[in-house]
Amino acid sequence: MQTKGLPEKTLLKELESRLVRDFTYGSGRIVGSMCTSPHPLARKVYGRFLEKNLGDSGLFPAAAEIEDETVGMLGTLLSNPEASGHIVSGGTEANVLALWTAKRLAKKTNCEVIVPASAHCSFDKAADLLGLKIVKIKLNKRFQVDVGAVKKAVNPNTIAIVGIAGTTALGAVDPIDELSELALERSLYLHVDAAFGGFVLPFLKDLGYNVPDFDFSVPGVCSITVDPHKMGLAPIPAGGILFRNAKLRKKMSWDIPYLSGGETEHATLVGTRSGASAIAVWTVMRHLGREGYRRIVKNCMRLTSMLVEEIPKIEGLSTAMEPVMNIIGVKSDVLDIRRIAEELRLRKWAISLFPRHLRIVIMPHLQEEHLEVLLQDLNRITNELRG
Ligand SMILES: Cc1ncc(COP(=O)(O)O)c(C=O)c1O
Repeated sequence: MQTKGLPEKTLLKELESRLVRDFTYGSGRIVGSMCTSPHPLARKVYGRFLEKNLGDSGLFPAAAEIEDETVGMLGTLLSNPEASGHIVSGGTEANVLALWTAKRLAKKTNCEVIVPASAHCSFDKAADLLGLKIVKIKLNKRFQVDVGAVKKAVNPNTIAIVGIAGTTALGAVDPIDELSELALERSLYLHVDAAFGGFVLPFLKDLGYNVPDFDFSVPGVCSITVDPHKMGLAPIPAGGILFRNAKLRKKMSWDIPYLSGGETEHATLVGTRSGASAIAVWTVMRHLGREGYRRIVKNCMRLTSMLVEEIPKIEGLSTAMEPVMNIIGVKSDVLDIRRIAEELRLRKWAISLFPRHLRIVIMPHLQEEHLEVLLQDLNRITNELRG
């Protein structure tokens, strides 16, 4: 740090010129992210209430009340108004909290957690952090976890099963009802990672899509991750961890005696945490309402269908599976998918590469004209690669 401070004007100018190098959602070039430009009203309230610290909730009881109401709205969205939980830093923290809770409930050593091979890498982080053995289960042809293989993997050390409602790679939804049957039969904790799907599937259902039950309507589900900073249009950081009831949530309770507001409980991984995040989620959910999110999801699905129709028209390309939500896998049986990703990145597309496919996430910042340019580039690149 320099000794003498710099004027605001100088710093803002430097920031403007330096940060111009970053991608922006508005450019339409980010086609591989699960985040998007936050809703303008959410930005506004986030900026206004920055000093709220939910890590000292006794100081900010009104903000804590808003967090509770936000959790209530998320719970209602996921078929359980009684759900209890927190707005956390993101899907990773939410998944850590779920497995941590499962471990504390199990009260044993040598614990194992069964996850689908498609599980987000946050489960690897969580397992390492918590000293759990992670057992990864193969997928079926529809990229869902193979429930038969899950059954075979359960043993006396198993404490929890994880199902995904909207996989990171392809947006597939695991058969949560079947996982629930197994979990109830074997008295196992069942966590559903709906970090992405939680803000998509309920609205797809409203729109008449055939959506399997994936949330608290399934009896064995103990907790759900649902991230407002993905399809919820909230500013980063805003993840959500919901437990079926307050009794379960209380398994994660730490006494923090020094807090100046007098409240002494923490139930999250981090201590000091953003009240502005919870307030922004509360605001954007109430502002958009179910109708607003439905409209957004409907438009994302319209663009998804458009791409799904156009991609196979490009020689050498096909889609990895019929999308369940606004995530498209693009694969090739004849061309090197890594080379296609490299060429797209050289042309300034921000796209995700998985071992066998490219992932396009149709987020609300994308418009038809952006996707038309993407299709043109894909056409050019595949022509060049074919020689
Ligand atoms: C299914 C799923 N779970 C969890 C996460 C982790 O979320 P975060 O990056 O907010 O920690 C992601 C991120 O993409 C995800 O796709």
